[in-house]
Amino acid sequence: MVAIDPDFQQKRQVVDKHFEHDIWGPVEAPEVLGIHGTHVAVDFDICIGDGSCIEVCPVDVFEWFDTPGTNPHKVHPELPAMIKDAKADPIREADCIDCMACETACPVLAIKISV
Ligand code: F3S
Ligand code: F3S
Ligand code: ZN
Repeated sequence: MVAIDPDFQQKRQVVDKHFEHDIWGPVEAPEVLGIHGTHVAVDFDICIGDGSCIEVCPVDVFEWFDTPGTNPHKVHPELPAMIKDAKADPIREADCIDCMACETACPVLAIKISV
C-alpha cells in the first residue's frame, strides 16, 4: 500500500511556498508535485482527488487545487485511478485542530498530520 512518508521532513527539502504553506520536493511540474504543507501534509503524488478529507475537516483546512497534467502514477504506478484532476491543498493549515479525521478518511493515505 502506498502512503505518505511520515519522515518526509527529514528526507526532503522545502523547494517552494504555496499560499502560506511549504512545498517539499522533488517537484517536476506538471507531473510530479511533491508534498504540500508541513503540519497538515498532503502528498500530491499520492492524492487521487478523492475529496473525503475536504468533507470531514471541521475547520475547512483544505481547498481544491486544480492540477492539470498531474501524474501520480508516475511515482506510484500501483495507485488506483484518479477520481478528480485536483488535489486537496492545505491552505488553512494553521487552523488545524488535530482531529485526524482527514488522515483517517483518505483512502490512499496521502495525508500526514504532525502534532
Ligand atoms: Fe482538519 Fe485534518 Fe486538521 S480534518 S482539523 S486538517 S487533522
Ligand atoms: Fe486526496 Fe486523499 Fe483528500 S485522495 S483529496 S488527500 S481524501
Ligand atoms: Zn499547496
